[in-house]
Amino acid sequence: MTAEERPQVDTMNVSIFGLGYVGAVSGACFAHFGHKVIGVDINLSKIEMINAGFSPVVEQGLAELISKGHAAGMISATEDVSAAVMGSEISLISVGTPSDTNGSQSLTAVESVVEAIGREIRRKQEPHCVVIRSTVAPGTTDGRIARLLQEAAGREIGEELTLCSNPEFLREGSAIKDFFHPPFTVVGGVGTEGCQALATLYAGLDAPFIATTARVAESLKYACNCFHAVKIAFANELGVLMKTLGIDSREAMRIFCEDRLLNISSAYLRPGFAFGGSCLPKELRTIADMARAANLPLPMLTSVLESNQQHVERALEMIQRRGRRKVALFGLAFKPGTDDLRESPLVTLAERLIGKGFDLAIFDRSVDLGRLTGTNLEYIRCEIPHLDRLVSNSIDGTLNGAGTIVIGHAPRDVVPKIAAAAVGRSVIDLQGVAALQNRPGIDYEGICW
Ligand SMILES: NC(=O)c1ccc[n+]([C@@H]2O[C@H](COP(=O)([O-])OP(=O)(O)OC[C@H]3O[C@@H](n4cnc5c(N)ncnc54)[C@H](O)[C@@H]3O)[C@@H](O)[C@H]2O)c1
Repeated sequence: MTAEERPQVDTMNVSIFGLGYVGAVSGACFAHFGHKVIGVDINLSKIEMINAGFSPVVEQGLAELISKGHAAGMISATEDVSAAVMGSEISLISVGTPSDTNGSQSLTAVESVVEAIGREIRRKQEPHCVVIRSTVAPGTTDGRIARLLQEAAGREIGEELTLCSNPEFLREGSAIKDFFHPPFTVVGGVGTEGCQALATLYAGLDAPFIATTARVAESLKYACNCFHAVKIAFANELGVLMKTLGIDSREAMRIFCEDRLLNISSAYLRPGFAFGGSCLPKELRTIADMARAANLPLPMLTSVLESNQQHVERALEMIQRRGRRKVALFGLAFKPGTDDLRESPLVTLAERLIGKGFDLAIFDRSVDLGRLTGTNLEYIRCEIPHLDRLVSNSIDGTLNGAGTIVIGHAPRDVVPKIAAAAVGRSVIDLQGVAALQNRPGIDYEGICW
């Protein structure tokens, strides 16, 4: 969308607290949509700049938008919190949340603004919506911030008061473009109400509007930024390794990015159990070996196997915590529909359970011990020598007497049978079987949920 393409939307009066990159860009863009924006900051020079029609930060296209908004009387700034809250129906908070010296997040500015807005809401008859746009750790908005706001406003959320998390995903340098063309707008409400005002505020955007909980909205910001950081570190670690091997890493990664099925896609991005099989662990070990030979520290790539092992330990700890000696394990191969047991994390889990003295029964329809051959057979003989005594093709036999049921992967037709037998027992779900979650009478725990 260019500055000339202005959609027709219902307009609102909006106050924006914190006129840094996020606040100034959002304010200018909302004013462009026809909303009346009043910015608030403690920095008087930023206020003066906006009131003179200038941008308080350097960002491509922002000076022009602010100048136009100012000329049209759609954007102004003040240090007067009262005037801003009384003159708006929605307050967005985009003050800084820097790291404290111990690495924790400083909420000093956010809390002081929330309190100040709350005090004004106390004197207000009309409904008001408060929106956290600053990046805050998951659980902050419906925790500390909700408590502080309710206390200061003298009313509960839901009583003419709404509170939402609406994280900002813009990138400096392309912030205006990012604002007008976001992948989505995520709004997380606290309590049952809250997102309607934001649907109106963002009506001018042609992007999915996703309403969720405040915690999910807050988490998304971290998920996105961590993923971006991981992508960069991944490309750079591979890049330097390829360089030492005389390989054109830019060419390799250009081709890598052409795979939209497994590489640049949602594949492998669902939380679940650990990876395994005959390729992934082996390739990671080879990369680590090449890095060692080249005397090249690659901390990210060389810690992936350890991260994976930690995930197996997590499952083990969940089973141990139940304190029930007899365990039924569904799934043994490294993924469903194959009999490949090599480096299966479920084999590792089974082996660790046996080592700790658990009485284990295993069901995996694809694993026919009589038909295993080659390295697959050698691997399992070495890892679990007496596997034939543990593996059964009877669901009832596997479940018989088991206090804990572990679902590594269970075929669709097996799940109802597990569900019927699970009442009164513990279920450790490594797969994500929706049918079992929240069922009464089952002690259920998922690995990542
Ligand atoms: N910069 C980015 O690219 C970006 C992108 C997405 C999210 N975020 C997040 O958005 C938040 C703001 O980031 P930013 O880069 O715009 O910060 P910034 O430091 O550029 O601006 C913060 C502004 O808040 C003002 N402020 C501080 N205390 C105040 C108070 N009590 N009342 C009113 N104003 C006050 C400051 O004077 C400053 O102008 C942070 O949580 C950040 O993590 C930033």
